[in-house]
Amino acid sequence: MKKGKFIVLEGIDGSGTTTHSNKLANWIRSKNLEVMVTEEPTVGAIGKIIRKYLFSGEGSPPVHALLFAADRAEHTEKVIKPSIISGIIVISDRYVESSIVYQAAEGLDIEWIEAINKFAIEPDLTIFLDVDPGIALARKREVREKFENIEFLKEVRRIYLERIRVKNFPVIDASRPIEVVHEDIVRCVESFLFKT
Ligand code: TMP
Repeated sequence: MKKGKFIVLEGIDGSGTTTHSNKLANWIRSKNLEVMVTEEPTVGAIGKIIRKYLFSGEGSPPVHALLFAADRAEHTEKVIKPSIISGIIVISDRYVESSIVYQAAEGLDIEWIEAINKFAIEPDLTIFLDVDPGIALARKREVREKFENIEFLKEVRRIYLERIRVKNFPVIDASRPIEVVHEDIVRCVESFLFKT
């Protein structure tokens, strides 16, 4: 059975995961490979509830963690797995690592977050876009969602960097201009797709 690949872009709010997921997909398409971009929180029913909670500030940390996990379970079963099985390269703008880092920054135990996400699949490649929270927030036209505040994002970034030391994810300096960051992402994905 032909198998696709699963690539995840991670980073704090304002690091550019959405912009770079789309730019990366265009580059992969230009190599005549089949690719799709997807995201978490998803555009599905549970993702919509999450957006509502993030706008209104509703919910406690465990409620957030469980909602993100439920959204991810549906996303994994209905979108990610079938696409990979059919040979597509799937790029996800955030996946489990976002829950581990953001919900740990909300005070939850990483072991529990990992336990409720046991169903998730291991990405073939996770790239971390690193940016200072001050720069990241300055990029946002308006701060609207719960986690978009500097103290929280400093803690999120600290936990991401701690995880990266253990997991060995490639880290790209995303404080630079979009095209420069894109070139680094392409170099990373190119060596993963064509030289491994
Ligand atoms: P977005 O800004 O990438 O659209 O994501 C929405 C927010 O949700 C962002 O602040 C990151 C946060 N988030 C979590 O806290 N846990 C998760 O599992 C995911 C996927 C996102």
